[in-house]
Amino acid sequence: MSKISIKNMDLFYGDFQALKNVNLEIPEKEVTAFIGPSGCGKSTLLKSLNRMNDLVSDCRITGDILLDGDNIYAKNYNVNLLRKRVGMVFQQPNPFPKSIYDNIAYGPRTHGIKDKHRLDEIVERSLKQAAIWDEVKDKLNKNALSISGGQQQRICIARALAVEPEVLLMDEPTSALDPISTNKIEDLVRQLRSDYTIVIVTHNMQQAGRVSDKTAFFLVGEICEFGDTAQIFQNPHDKRTEDYISGKFG
Ligand SMILES: Nc1ncnc2c1ncn2[C@@H]1O[C@H](COP(=O)(O)OP(=O)(O)O)[C@@H](O)[C@H]1O
Ligand SMILES: [Mg+2]
Repeated sequence: MSKISIKNMDLFYGDFQALKNVNLEIPEKEVTAFIGPSGCGKSTLLKSLNRMNDLVSDCRITGDILLDGDNIYAKNYNVNLLRKRVGMVFQQPNPFPKSIYDNIAYGPRTHGIKDKHRLDEIVERSLKQAAIWDEVKDKLNKNALSISGGQQQRICIARALAVEPEVLLMDEPTSALDPISTNKIEDLVRQLRSDYTIVIVTHNMQQAGRVSDKTAFFLVGEICEFGDTAQIFQNPHDKRTEDYISGKFG
C-alpha cells in the first residue's frame, strides 16, 4: 500500500522547472531511496513531501501529493500536523544549542506535553529508538553541540522520532559523517523500517543498496526509473540508469 502518492507533479523555482511530471508511489513501512547526480531534484522532491518548500517564496507546485489519500497541498490542510506526521533529518546534523534532553523534548512540548514524567519517557524512548541512549543517558543535561557529529545526527533522528511521525525524510543523513557513524545510522534505518515509512536521499549507491527496498533514479528533474532496489542495481531497464550505477557519469 502507498503511504505517499505523487501524481503528475511539476515544481518551479521562479521560471526554472526543477521537477517534471513526477509520478511515484512510496510504499508504507519500507525504505525508498532517491539516487541520482547532484542537482537533479532529489532534495527538492523530498522537501515537497512535508511542504518545506513553502518557505521558498518563488516555489510553485502543480499536481498532487497524497498522504494516506489526502492532498497535502489542499487549501485547508494543516501544515503543522503534516510536519509532525512527516519528520525530517538533514545532511548536516543540526541540533539546537540546548541540552540533549531539551532537544528531544522540544517537539512534544510544542505539541502541548508538559508533564515531566511523560517527557522523561518520551526522551528515553526516542533516544533508545535512535540507538544513542546508552551513549548519552548520563549526560542528558549537556549541550547537544558538545557531542560528536555522528552522535549529533542520532540526536536529530531521536528529535524527529519524539513526536511519533509516520514518515521520516532523510536528506543525505550520513554524508557529513565518518564510516563508523555511517554504519550506525544505516543499522538504525534498517531497524526503523518496520515502524516507519522512510525516504532517504543518498549519493552513495552502496548505501542505497544496503538500506533500501525501493530506489528511484533521478535525472535532470525527472524520475528516470523506479523499482525494487535489487532490480534497479542488478537489472536496470533504462540505459541511463545502467550507465549511472555502473559509474559512467554523475
Ligand atoms: N531555493 C531554490 N531556488 C532556486 N533553485 C533551486 C532552489 N533549490 C534548488 N534549486 C535548483 O533546483 C535543482 C534541483 O536541486 P536539488 O533538489 O537541491 O538537487 P539534488 O538534491 O538532487 O542535488 C538545481 O538545479 C538547483 O540549483
Ligand atoms: Mg540534495
